[in-house]
Amino acid sequence: MNKHAEHMIKRIAICTGGGDAPGLNAVIRAATLAAINHGWEVYGIRDGYNGLLMPEQFLEGGVVRLTRDRVRGITHLGGTILGTTNRGNPLKFPIKTSDGGIIEMDRTDELMQAFMLHEIDALISVGGDGSMEIANALAKKGMWVVGVPKTIDNDLDKTVITFGFDTASAFTVECLDRLHTTAASHHRIMVVEVMGRYAGWIALESGISGTADIILIPEIPYDLNKVAEKIRERDAHGRLFSIVVVAEGAKPKGGEISVISREAGRSERLGGAGEKVAAGLETMTGKETRLVVLGHLLRGGTPTRFDRLIAQRFGAAAVRALAEGQRGVMVALDPPNVKYVPLEAATKRMKTVPLNNDMMMTARDLGICFGD
Ligand code: F6P
Repeated sequence: MNKHAEHMIKRIAICTGGGDAPGLNAVIRAATLAAINHGWEVYGIRDGYNGLLMPEQFLEGGVVRLTRDRVRGITHLGGTILGTTNRGNPLKFPIKTSDGGIIEMDRTDELMQAFMLHEIDALISVGGDGSMEIANALAKKGMWVVGVPKTIDNDLDKTVITFGFDTASAFTVECLDRLHTTAASHHRIMVVEVMGRYAGWIALESGISGTADIILIPEIPYDLNKVAEKIRERDAHGRLFSIVVVAEGAKPKGGEISVISREAGRSERLGGAGEKVAAGLETMTGKETRLVVLGHLLRGGTPTRFDRLIAQRFGAAAVRALAEGQRGVMVALDPPNVKYVPLEAATKRMKTVPLNNDMMMTARDLGICFGD
């Protein structure tokens, strides 16, 4: 706690990085209003840090002033008014080479200079694991940074939840409800692929809530024979349809994760996990099977009440942290309160689904198959 911190700040910047998630605008508005209440000026950086690293690409300028007017009426809107990117990691910035290739470059020193040039005293970085790693690197270089955890995947450690996850899961459950009736009417297998690169939180929580029969998550490599067996068993009991939720990062035992592309300067792009499962199950069971890939639908839309509330609490807490003189920390939910954890600790590991937690036990008690 530093009593003078509030007065050491004149201007802060907010940036949103990585994949968008419902609730980003709610954080931007809450942080802006709270900062204005401290008498600070607030600026938004466009498209992650690209607004500072490639300002010439932005007609309106790479940095925009955030006023009460500018953030009015955005809490319920999906996306981010600042724009975002998962191709602008300043630690691994993708640069085109003369032979058409791409190399990765560390541009954090340039970024530090840009903060100085714009007289930005402190930064609120809203993002997932990648953004928190960048925030940590900037903090180590002396930037006054507070992180706000965002991701629909809910895979950030040291916080009970990230905003965006509830909206993505609620929408998945709605889809499962709709798919149940058509699956039951046609006696089909319905395979539903959801996002969740390396952690199965969306698949698990929405699968349980939406009463899926089978849930395949990255944490448990599956044996498709076991899944087919479960479906045959259901058929034998007169339950002639089955709902299979597959996280995009699910992989068969001894097999590989389904990757579409790997490129320098960005995370690997996944795709095809659901297709693999659907095709395999149709062959193995002889049952008509349909695939629905929810993909980016999970990232859009109006944030749920929960996500709006948590996003606003996180945004306001980030400003409180700065006013208290906290540096290099991430806002985290530790019910019933928010707390601050060192960015260093928050970026150590990914929060995957623990295989013996109560949620997994509940699912198994209910007879949900994980293909193991
Ligand atoms: O990390 C969030 C996430 O939604 C992942 O679940 C997914 O694999 C990825 O983003 C997709 O990113 P993109 O928008 O680049 O396809």
